Amino acid sequence: MCGIIARVGEGGAVDELLTGLKNLEYRGYDSAGVAIPNGKSIDIRKQEGSVDDLVSAIDGNEPVGNIGIGHTRWSTHGPPTDENAHPHTDCTGSVAVVHNGIIDNHDELRDRLIAEGHEFTSETDTEVVPHLIERHLANGDGPEAAFRSAVDELDGSYALVATVEGGDALYATRNGSPLVLGIDGDRHYLASDVPAFLEFTDDVVYLEDHDVVVLNGDGYTIFDSEGRRLDRPVETVEWSPEDAEKGSYDHFMFKEINEQPVALGQTLSDRFTGDGDVDLGIDPDRYVDVDHVHFVACGTSYHAGLQGTHILTRAGVPASTYRASEFVATPPPLNEDSLVVGVTQSGETADTLEALRVATRRGAKTIAVTNAPGSTAVRETDESIFIRAGPEIGVAATKTFSSQVATLIMFAELITRSMTGSGIEDFEEIVDSLRSLPDAVQRILDTSRAERIARFYAGSEAQFFIGRGGAYPIALEGALKFKEITYEHAEGFAAGELKHGPLALVNADTPVFAVILGPGDEKTIGNVREVQARGAPVIVVAPEGADDALAVADEVLTVPDSHPIVASVLANVQLQLVSYHVAELLSRSIDKPRNLAKSVTVE
Ligand code: AGP
Ligand code: GLU
Repeated sequence: MCGIIARVGEGGAVDELLTGLKNLEYRGYDSAGVAIPNGKSIDIRKQEGSVDDLVSAIDGNEPVGNIGIGHTRWSTHGPPTDENAHPHTDCTGSVAVVHNGIIDNHDELRDRLIAEGHEFTSETDTEVVPHLIERHLANGDGPEAAFRSAVDELDGSYALVATVEGGDALYATRNGSPLVLGIDGDRHYLASDVPAFLEFTDDVVYLEDHDVVVLNGDGYTIFDSEGRRLDRPVETVEWSPEDAEKGSYDHFMFKEINEQPVALGQTLSDRFTGDGDVDLGIDPDRYVDVDHVHFVACGTSYHAGLQGTHILTRAGVPASTYRASEFVATPPPLNEDSLVVGVTQSGETADTLEALRVATRRGAKTIAVTNAPGSTAVRETDESIFIRAGPEIGVAATKTFSSQVATLIMFAELITRSMTGSGIEDFEEIVDSLRSLPDAVQRILDTSRAERIARFYAGSEAQFFIGRGGAYPIALEGALKFKEITYEHAEGFAAGELKHGPLALVNADTPVFAVILGPGDEKTIGNVREVQARGAPVIVVAPEGADDALAVADEVLTVPDSHPIVASVLANVQLQLVSYHVAELLSRSIDKPRNLAKSVTVE
């Protein structure tokens, strides 16, 4: 969480910093600020609220200078206030710092600095950093040495960029939080994520933990923690700036829902080999001795992971899916024959990274399934599989979920072949449905009745989502999306569990979305009748040919007939649309729901 942007080079800094902050707002939107040295002092503008608020506040009185740092915050220490907004400064205002992450030993450092006479103006953990730099400068260190010495005293996770009055340089480092360098001729950028500067350049260097970068008018230099120069490769990202822009859509979320046919086309392209096998860019022979597949993930990615376990389990392969934080709290038995798969679109989710680290420490094989080349998950796992969905800016994950599930279906075939010597029994049928998936999604987008259903039920007391087998993760995902962007009460349940407790909540003002996709349908239809008997209206999400399921519905959302596993992606698209339209009717902040951030880089 939190977005950092920094730039040096010809031209004024402020416009590019503000553009970068706008592009990064999906990472945090509690406050925004910039710091621009102008030769005499460091001009700091920062305040609670959005980047647009900051833009209005400085309109007509822009800070002048060609180097600068900017930040959009997702608060961890101290509420979202003007004082807690970044950049933070030392006692004299001659050091400014932006930070993403958490300084674990900030209490101890703060006590020590206060005892030495430093005065703090915020409640953040971050503020210790400029005061530490101030202290080392006062002891005679140059700015780069002072920055290094300050960083040496920090425990925790951080991406940091600092600037010091009177100089023309920026100093940066990272440990456990992302930071990427962008290169555009003699202009250079540092940011938490590539979309920050994608409209300026697509040439990037992915920085590694403990790298120290010095940026000035002459260019950039990367050092290791011992001060030795490093040569990191410059890579060109394949995303275009338009991919990360809203275009004619009102919301990124709606744009990304509508991009799913294209995204899925990219996900599936060139993955099937002539002999019916799949090629995901990993070595199938490494997994021959694996005896259990463990998926670790959070939120929407966890629901994709559940689908992975569903597919493998029905193919006879031992598999489990864990919420990453719980995997860390209570790791299962692991050894060199365990395969731990981190499903993470950003590749930067702290809980998932920690779960993968636990797996590595215990000798397990690890794979990242991600949308983010160059991410920490890619660097820290043995092999990576890319879902190729293109950039997703809306905080609510939509196209990345569809691409994750499509990828995990192919992964399930690959791993089943490796582990058992033969593939999933009905894989040919699954592949046929996968090949039609982009068109089937397009048909839903063209014909969905979700907006009408949203109008009918928006403002209900609560909404429940139920499903069985491969429809269960979709019920959970439908509910997560609904609560995340509408702020209304929504819960997902295994259809068979309703009668063991949640049925007590069901009444005429609690619509139930029943996802009915395949094996076990008659039982779910029985569960539908149970909630109808308590007065609840039922919206059935089912294939067009599922006559029995559709017959019991009060309302229907149909999906093109497909293999049940692939139909789960289609059913989810219908539920994405329902959530989107309800949120729109309720005038919610759809792309930036309250309290949330897209990339959660703290545990
Ligand atoms: C859902 O809409 C959220 N964006 C959230 O649940 C997300 O899936 C979760 O934080 C995991 O993110 P990741 O895929 O980047 O690891
Ligand atoms: N811990 C810092 C704060 O609360 C940085 C949070 C962030 O990453 O945005 O201000």
